Amino acid sequence: MAVADALRALALRPKAELHLHLEGAVRPATLVRLARRAASPLFPDLAAVRARGRPGSLAGFLSLYRDVCRLLREPDDFALLARDLTARLRRGRIVYAEVYVSPAVVERVGFPWPAVRDVVERVFAAHERAGHGRIRVLLDAVRHFGPDAAHRVLDLQSLHPWPRAVGFGLGGDELAVPARDFVSVYRRLAGLGLAPVVHAGETGGPDSVAEALRWLRPRRIAHGVGAAADPSLVRRLARSGVALDVCLTSNAATGTHPLAGHPVLRLLRSGVAVTLSTDDPGLFGTTLLGEYRLLARLGATERELTGILRAGFRAALSPAGRHQPPDSARTLS
Ligand code: ADE
Ligand code: ZN
Repeated sequence: MAVADALRALALRPKAELHLHLEGAVRPATLVRLARRAASPLFPDLAAVRARGRPGSLAGFLSLYRDVCRLLREPDDFALLARDLTARLRRGRIVYAEVYVSPAVVERVGFPWPAVRDVVERVFAAHERAGHGRIRVLLDAVRHFGPDAAHRVLDLQSLHPWPRAVGFGLGGDELAVPARDFVSVYRRLAGLGLAPVVHAGETGGPDSVAEALRWLRPRRIAHGVGAAADPSLVRRLARSGVALDVCLTSNAATGTHPLAGHPVLRLLRSGVAVTLSTDDPGLFGTTLLGEYRLLARLGATERELTGILRAGFRAALSPAGRHQPPDSARTLS
């Protein structure tokens, strides 16, 4: 089968996505609506959202993310984000997703975490009840908020357990605080039934990925592609089975790893487990199928594309995601 045929088949196949953020899945139209409601000049129209979706740096992207969060006025606004996200999953035939949700951001914008958690839970539960697939949550702490704020995320999970949460990770500015500063946070995860994941190797290079592996012992790494510059680290990653949740459009948009010369295929061909995700699909204007198309443009073979699709299920933190459904699954909407 030619790669073009494989891509057409992939569009119809049930897929898994392990790395996308709730706020980043917002539809541009929702963002324009929220900005109008807030009488904010930030996102006057869809073209403005599109322009900001190519920030050219992670700092620029994090500033965009803050602007999005500032438009949220009440816990129910998170239902808009969750509905945008689940609609995206349905359209993309994504039957298993692990979604980063950030209690730290929720509290920073001034909402009580339990209220927001309940709002998001209702939308995710309805999506599952309707047979569209499974969603699991990765509780996200923001690296540049520091270890105390990360502990606070775990305190919230202790106080108000969210059974849908299966993992815990660090997003934000990877270079702001070293991984070792979060050791005491990650030590608490097993007791809370949360698997460790972490953003690393996005803006950081091999040292940052090696630090994260050494101190936090993640099951998967969000991005991770900065590891590619060190062949011995790549061999270690391949042996470890730790998967990298790679997001090509995100890397290109933030300028961290442009598509020309992107190391994803080198990593894959060195035996590293690679999955494909969109990170912040609403802001970057991408879809999971779009990411597969990009990978094909970089030279992935049909076998590699279907291997990555399988890897998405294999690397799921929850047993609910580990069984790849047959292509005719009823989860297609
Ligand atoms: N939060 C949402 N998207 C992110 C990214 N690409 N890097 C770090 N933190 C994020
Ligand atoms: Zn991310």
